[in-house]
Amino acid sequence: MTYTKEKMRRKKRTPKEGFDFSCLKGISLRNINSIILFPFFAALLNRVPYLSLPEMPIAYFLGCVIFWYIFVETTVRNNRFFDLHAAYRIALYAVVSVGIIVNSVVVYFISTDLLVFITPLFFTVAIITILIGFDEGAGVGLFLAFIASATYSFSLDAFVMLSIISFVSALATRKLTARISIARAGFFVGAVFVALVFARSFTESTFNWIQLSAAFINPVLSSIAVIGLLPYIEYVTRIYSNVGLLELGNLSHPLLKNLSVNAPGTYYHSVTMANLSEAASEAVGANAILARVGAYFHDIGKIKRPQYFTENQSGDNPHDRLSPSMSNTVINEHVQHGVELARKHRLPLLIEDIVRQHHGTRNKLFFYRKAMNEGSKKSEDFGYFGPKPQFRESGIVMLADSVEAAFKSLKNPTPGNIREIVAEVVEGIYNERQLDNSGLNLGDLEGIVDAFTRVLASSSRPRIEYPLEEPPTGVSDADNPPEQNDETGKREENT
Ligand SMILES: [Fe+2]
Ligand SMILES: [Fe+2]
Repeated sequence: MTYTKEKMRRKKRTPKEGFDFSCLKGISLRNINSIILFPFFAALLNRVPYLSLPEMPIAYFLGCVIFWYIFVETTVRNNRFFDLHAAYRIALYAVVSVGIIVNSVVVYFISTDLLVFITPLFFTVAIITILIGFDEGAGVGLFLAFIASATYSFSLDAFVMLSIISFVSALATRKLTARISIARAGFFVGAVFVALVFARSFTESTFNWIQLSAAFINPVLSSIAVIGLLPYIEYVTRIYSNVGLLELGNLSHPLLKNLSVNAPGTYYHSVTMANLSEAASEAVGANAILARVGAYFHDIGKIKRPQYFTENQSGDNPHDRLSPSMSNTVINEHVQHGVELARKHRLPLLIEDIVRQHHGTRNKLFFYRKAMNEGSKKSEDFGYFGPKPQFRESGIVMLADSVEAAFKSLKNPTPGNIREIVAEVVEGIYNERQLDNSGLNLGDLEGIVDAFTRVLASSSRPRIEYPLEEPPTGVSDADNPPEQNDETGKREENT
């Protein structure tokens, strides 16, 4: 572009003096949709069976928009995964819409008098909390409590009770690791609901068995529906709960079995890395289950050409017969192939991200140097395609990958030199700015170095030498030769 053209382009972009457009900067189609259109749509959806607006329609619509913005949109904007994958927002909208339509239909066909007790609040709040998180689940619960109580003549009593139930539902379903815990949460919320109805009946001096039964049965039945629907939602959205992730991480997944048969070195490397990633995630408060399962799957792309990776070689190195540029292509392929396999097997979106990001944009220094030594003239790119890790668990897997490889090269692992090499690797990756988008800070990195050192030091502790069995008295040396004793001793040590 010539200087004149560039000057003209800049001139066109200069805003006219006299009017400041900065106030309109925050307004985009995305903002209009997430702040105004969706809550408006949800408010209308709630009125579908009635085909009429509630009393005070302006307060109803305005309340919906305000409640959605304060309790849902602000928490969603703090969640990194919503920026990474549109599937998160689509899933949120879909679950909330289904929750609202089920709520309004159930209430319309059963009895508006029972609204507070039969509204399937637990169903929606539990799904959002289990799949996305506590803040989002509790926020959606408050929004739904407002919508339901608006239908019930803006009853403050109904709003307070439903807000308590939605908060307790989110609390009871956060960080679950087993399906049975969802059923337990249903019973717990049912019990809390019954206690609230009791407390209310004392103040109003009325008692209604139907209300009491509905308050208990509603969360219990909802928990059964959540258990049944969760695997389908996970499969369709590829957003996995911790329960779903644990099922993937039980090492019986066909991809992991294939890896253990065709690339046993990589399989062992992944299992060791999983322990490192889990300990580091626990140390910094990240999702340890996601990091563990991500580590299991991070190198699944090596299934295709396992012999091109050091951990699977026994003597012969095919790279000796390849040019550095060819080696670079083959190694890059394990990331691309891994991503393809993750998509084909519908692994969680975040696991696919870990597969894609575990080398970031790092350089393959070995092949770069080899190319330079062979007198390569062209400046080739020996970096991975990236992107750099985009969330904490992905950054931790990247660190664990390099730390595990560096640890293997240690001749005499002692706690002192393990810490030294771990700190060196972590610092190197940090200085390469690979962790810039991961959300890990310097404090986290200190915790990660400690956790890695602890796991590696405990795994490299020498085993005590078992004493050789004394030959039984009366048996001659000829019957029990010393070579045999040595052999037995060695075998015992290696078990
Ligand atoms: Fe890799
Ligand atoms: Fe790896």
